[in-house]
Amino acid sequence: MTDDTPTETDADDPGVETERRPDGGTATGADDVTLDPWGSSTIADYRKLFEEFGIEEFDSVLEEVPNPHYLMRRGVIFGHRDYRPVAEALRSGDPVAVLSGFMPTGDPHIGHKLVFDEIIWHQEQGADAYGLIADLEAHSARGLTWSEIDEHARDYLLSLLALGFDPDEGTLYRQSGNREVQDLAFELGSKARFAEFEGIYGFDGETSVSHMQSVVTQMADILYPQIEEPKPTVIPVGPDQDPHVRLARDLAARMRFFKITEAYFSQELTAAERVLVADAHASLVDRADDGDVRCVHGAQYLVDPDAVDFDADRPSVDDRAVGEIDDPARASAVEKLRNAGMEPLRPRIRFLSRDASDDAFEALVERVDGEKRRYDEHVDAFDLSRAEAEELAREVEVDTGGYGFYPPSSIYHRFMTGLTGGKMSSSIPASHISLLDDPDNGYAKVKSATTGGRDTAEEQRQKGGEADKCPVYELYAYLLSGDDDDFAKEVYDECVGGERLCGDCKEQAAVLMREFLEDHQEKREEAEALLADLDLDLDSPRRRVAGETTD
Ligand code: TRP
Ligand code: SF4
Repeated sequence: MTDDTPTETDADDPGVETERRPDGGTATGADDVTLDPWGSSTIADYRKLFEEFGIEEFDSVLEEVPNPHYLMRRGVIFGHRDYRPVAEALRSGDPVAVLSGFMPTGDPHIGHKLVFDEIIWHQEQGADAYGLIADLEAHSARGLTWSEIDEHARDYLLSLLALGFDPDEGTLYRQSGNREVQDLAFELGSKARFAEFEGIYGFDGETSVSHMQSVVTQMADILYPQIEEPKPTVIPVGPDQDPHVRLARDLAARMRFFKITEAYFSQELTAAERVLVADAHASLVDRADDGDVRCVHGAQYLVDPDAVDFDADRPSVDDRAVGEIDDPARASAVEKLRNAGMEPLRPRIRFLSRDASDDAFEALVERVDGEKRRYDEHVDAFDLSRAEAEELAREVEVDTGGYGFYPPSSIYHRFMTGLTGGKMSSSIPASHISLLDDPDNGYAKVKSATTGGRDTAEEQRQKGGEADKCPVYELYAYLLSGDDDDFAKEVYDECVGGERLCGDCKEQAAVLMREFLEDHQEKREEAEALLADLDLDLDSPRRRVAGETTD
């Protein structure tokens, strides 16, 4: 693991292209981005996350989300992986879940509130909601003692409840106290290899086994909502957690009995070969009598589209021309097609067995509707759509004792800038506002925050403030405006238009912050009763071991 992950954004670098949005945050070009779940949590360049890591822009699904949360509308939630199935389930009322976890390493602060709000919003939209305390991770990766963990765990749970999490409808747990999660972690561990942990997390010979165990535990957390019944599940997190999400998606796939592919003949194709063969098929099907295309015709087509001979009794492929193909995918596709000879070339959906039991395979073959062809390790269906095939594979898997996991989805929010500039960090009290801060202290922290203001009031009136670089504006956009987009926009417009000066602006924000903290802390007290009713042990009965500090 690296602790020297690139961090700060150089927003003033004129050579750097900067994307600004009027509604919170900036995306600035800078150095390399690495995602390290146990490293520093700032992101120098959000765009790189799209280009290099394949995270998709949240804006691309926003329209599909029913009554989107303000964090979604304002671009604070900026990215996602595979959120569509979740949005669709929210719209249609189908089963869907949300889950996130918190390492109880310090006080919950306004950065955590973003995630609490995301969980609660999904719960209000009808999702099964889960919040967990990552106590095993805090103990093994951060070295916290059990009594520290117990105290912080309470605080996270109280804030989550105070903000509106409904414990009757949802589930709260600690990793250490959830036997089902531990059992699932063990199963998932059998699908993960140490070499992957080295590659993904930089683990090495010095990494403790408990730390590795906390990783498979997180994998189990992420899939836990699907343990009774598979369903789309979203994991709202910061982008530093993306490596975990990707691994969980891989492991979910490795647990599946069947893999579904689109095929054209008995041979399995690579993605690149498939594109070529699909094109050959599409072009030839109209040219052949009754659409009767054979593999060898496909091979001829890929060598030379004009050299296809439907009339020959024994069509052949010109060896010399094959030798001249440069593109390896084309060459290998031709090879496979020519070996298959007079086998029909026809599109089909293929169910490949990933070591499924005989029972499961038989059940699947039995239940494929319409024309089908069975092989040793796979069955081809000619009358099913891909979506129908996915559904059938999942049903058969569940009916024959498997999990049938959906790959988990994720959404990513921007990290908040610290009130002192730089990053918001739990270890720098002035940089963040804890949900437990005395309201007057919260007021004072906002009053002394850095701003995007100009040197003099006069300059500010002339040029306007720089709301996009202003941590105080972020407070308005991420928290203080709540659902009121007009108010957030008004602050922004007044700031950049020079009508708003920082003194008054901070005063207004500080007052709102004090009110928020007063209200939140009152609700935390009310939530004590809810917490007491939960079946959740907040006194770890564990003993100390050598090397732990007393506390
Ligand atoms: N690793 C997360 C963190 O550092 C905590 C966590 C544990 C988690 N299990 C999870 C987050 C499952 C999301 C989903 O904060
Ligand atoms: Fe920030 Fe407000 Fe000053 Fe604008 S006026 S720079 S939003 S403190």
